[in-house]
Amino acid sequence: MCGIIGIAGNQPVTDRLLEGLKRLEYRGYDSAGIAVINDDNGPSTLVRRRAEGKIRNLENLINEEPLEGHLGIAHTRWATHGAPNTMNAHPHFAGRVGLVHNGIIENFTLLRDQLKDTRTFQTETDTEVVAHLIDEAMKSGLSGKDAFAASLKQLTGAFAIGVVIDGVDGQLFAARRGSPLAIGLGDGENYIGSDAIALASLSSKIIYLEEGDWAVITTDSVEIFDANDTPVERAVTIVSGSLAAAEKGNYRHFMLKEIYEQPESVSHTLTHYVDAFHHKVKTLAELDMEGLDWNKLERLSLIACGTAAYAASIAKYWFEQLAHMPVDVDIASEFRYRRPALTKKSMAIAVSQSGETADTLAALRYCQSKGLQTAAIVNVMSSSMAREADFAMPINAGPEIGVASTKAFTSQLTALLSLAISAGVRRGLIDGSREKNLAEALTQMPRLIAETLTLDADIEALALDLSKADSAFYLGRGVHYPLALEGALKLKEISYIHAEGYAAGELKHGPIALIEEGTPVIVIAPTDALFEKTVSNMQEVATRGAKILLITDSEGAKNTAGMTDATLICPTVSVETAPIIYAITVQLLAYHTAVHLGTDVDQPRNLAKSVTVE
Ligand code: M6R
Repeated sequence: MCGIIGIAGNQPVTDRLLEGLKRLEYRGYDSAGIAVINDDNGPSTLVRRRAEGKIRNLENLINEEPLEGHLGIAHTRWATHGAPNTMNAHPHFAGRVGLVHNGIIENFTLLRDQLKDTRTFQTETDTEVVAHLIDEAMKSGLSGKDAFAASLKQLTGAFAIGVVIDGVDGQLFAARRGSPLAIGLGDGENYIGSDAIALASLSSKIIYLEEGDWAVITTDSVEIFDANDTPVERAVTIVSGSLAAAEKGNYRHFMLKEIYEQPESVSHTLTHYVDAFHHKVKTLAELDMEGLDWNKLERLSLIACGTAAYAASIAKYWFEQLAHMPVDVDIASEFRYRRPALTKKSMAIAVSQSGETADTLAALRYCQSKGLQTAAIVNVMSSSMAREADFAMPINAGPEIGVASTKAFTSQLTALLSLAISAGVRRGLIDGSREKNLAEALTQMPRLIAETLTLDADIEALALDLSKADSAFYLGRGVHYPLALEGALKLKEISYIHAEGYAAGELKHGPIALIEEGTPVIVIAPTDALFEKTVSNMQEVATRGAKILLITDSEGAKNTAGMTDATLICPTVSVETAPIIYAITVQLLAYHTAVHLGTDVDQPRNLAKSVTVE
């Protein structure tokens, strides 16, 4: 996971940038670099040092070839586009511009094409083109600030950016869209960093940039602008250094912070499983899992608990549809005692955020004792499951502190969908052009999640109504049936409102008896092959007095005008990635309902983050 730090200083910055990079090591990285405006002797110059591997390699290099300057940026890179080598390491240079970046510039191929006649690219990264855009804009006569603002408007994707420009009067530029970025306020100095941890030794006064914000930072000023370039004030949060790792930033709860982190956490998952540069999912060999062959497997057994089990249930549809692989999904506490009939040609995959859930771990060990190949899809790579399974597959969502799982769920889904596509390719069911489409749909997710998060205020208003209910139903078909189960779980675990998820077609076989005047029914139905059938089921409950909240896309909203009490319109997305996007809405709905009710959102009653007893 990339990390950024920058200093507009009144003292030399190199040592402090190095120290900040060390604080960012926890995010994981494969190369690092620092750039400063060298103002030591004579006219200023933009200089950098970069090194592959550990930060000590960069430190050794700087000891041999020191860097002097009062304005600088630094970066730890976790490769997404292009190999993890020195050439691709940040900062990237173009003319007078030095730039560091976290996230993915989705339209970098298009932008590179537009600049290819006037610019020479040195790297394989999606990042370098942004430095060229800024430098090109300055060549056309814009100031550094205007060139930065204009260039941001040309970018699509989710990112955080830090920039220094030679000859531009001590200014450090920063922008945030999708990936977090913080500003630290100092005494005669100011800073930028990926998070408060990076800035912990420099400043305890932190401003968390909001979505779409950009800023110009000097030693004695911080100007912040919103996405429309309007100057804005953002609150200053006082952060205690030792608590920085567990800080909520300017979020009221960890759960909300983690919901908002999803453009970034999903992009970290994608980094591991998708080769965005070549528009393909990574092969098992590229994932260092040569011992596994999708072609030799006759069956998959997905085993998990709670939210992770719902991720597995969604993945069943993907593996069956994309790779024609039969899949069993089991709740671990049932699986481990029912003496399942297993064949050696099946593989067991445990799905777990913590990697320590007792039932899931026991089920994994049971499968190993029966001679099955095993894999664990986990967030905590030092966990028992990651250590004990034949293959450990990371989701890289970062620490999840809220008890209700949110970002781990969407990252589990992202990993599972990528693996299902990889299986489909290997088994000859997905050709190159379909793989390209699917890989592109995956890489657009961070941006689409960020877009879905803009529904937050609408959802908060709808949650007020839901908070007055005694019970609620969630309906969906296909992949949206397990998502309905997850939506109901989120609501009950943090708001304590009784909620049930049902397959939309199943309701009339009994549960419809519970529908009465005003019962809230949340229907998850993007426009897909099952849309009309779900709408028919929605009407069956509407005519019996249910209060309908439909979650759909603009096409679905048009086709159901007048049929619902409220409609939430999500971005239009591919059929395969839809559950990942729609998950955001049910998370926010549960969160705001709980907040309206005043429950302990991050530590709901009776629940633990990691269930290590059976
Ligand atoms: O760490 P795990 O993913 O194995 O945890 C599984 C469940 O305990 C967990 O998903 C639980 O259901 C959460 N409270 C859901 O929000």
